[in-house]
Amino acid sequence: MAIIASNFKTNHTRKSTKDFINNVNDFLTSNSIISDVYIFPTSTALDTFDTVSNLTIGTQNAYATAKGSYTGEIGTEQLDEFKIQTILIGHSERRHILGESQAEIAKKFAFYSELGYKIIYCIGEPLEVKEQGIEKTLEYVYEQFIGIDINYKNLILAYEPVWAIGTGITAINTDITSVHKALKSKIKKPLLYGGSVKVTNVEEICSLDGVDGALIGTASWNLEDFKQIIKNTKDL
Ligand code: 13P
Repeated sequence: MAIIASNFKTNHTRKSTKDFINNVNDFLTSNSIISDVYIFPTSTALDTFDTVSNLTIGTQNAYATAKGSYTGEIGTEQLDEFKIQTILIGHSERRHILGESQAEIAKKFAFYSELGYKIIYCIGEPLEVKEQGIEKTLEYVYEQFIGIDINYKNLILAYEPVWAIGTGITAINTDITSVHKALKSKIKKPLLYGGSVKVTNVEEICSLDGVDGALIGTASWNLEDFKQIIKNTKDL
């Protein structure tokens, strides 16, 4: 069964998020779709949503704290208000644009795993590393597991090559399978692929060996496209 996750990043308002989630929820119910679907809205759009058990709302980020003085961040006090128990950690945009270090990411992982959160943990290499070949790519990706408990029970991994994110350049199948195969041999956890996944390629990608689903940005922000993505993968 495919796992399909939508990362809204900095898109959608509180109102459009609510409409989107309710619409996806109705779609899953009326089509009896049992795939595991996740939606990660912006923090400002988090709320209590009445969803079926296979539609989970998570947070794109939170600080490793219950509350305190961390301007611009949220902690578990804010997440508990909406019973949010799912978090994305290690996304490349947080690593590269927001400057989160592996040590900070590991601290966040430890904090949220201690609380039993479902964690979607993202890894992936930039273009200059990919160009050095598969061995360097794996070396780079393995370093992103420093300080991370790979045996954590509520862990889902997402391999998102940085050069394929938001660029329209999807990794070719062998780029995906070579990394997924290597990761799967070391870590027995569900493994998603992310990076320019679209309506037209999601079924093929999710059918590849070692791919358990997709983490999608751009193509998932459009409601009709996201529903089509769910439809295209519902029987995998
Ligand atoms: P795109 O689907 O826009 O390439 O983004 C992928 C991603 O970063 C999901 O977390």
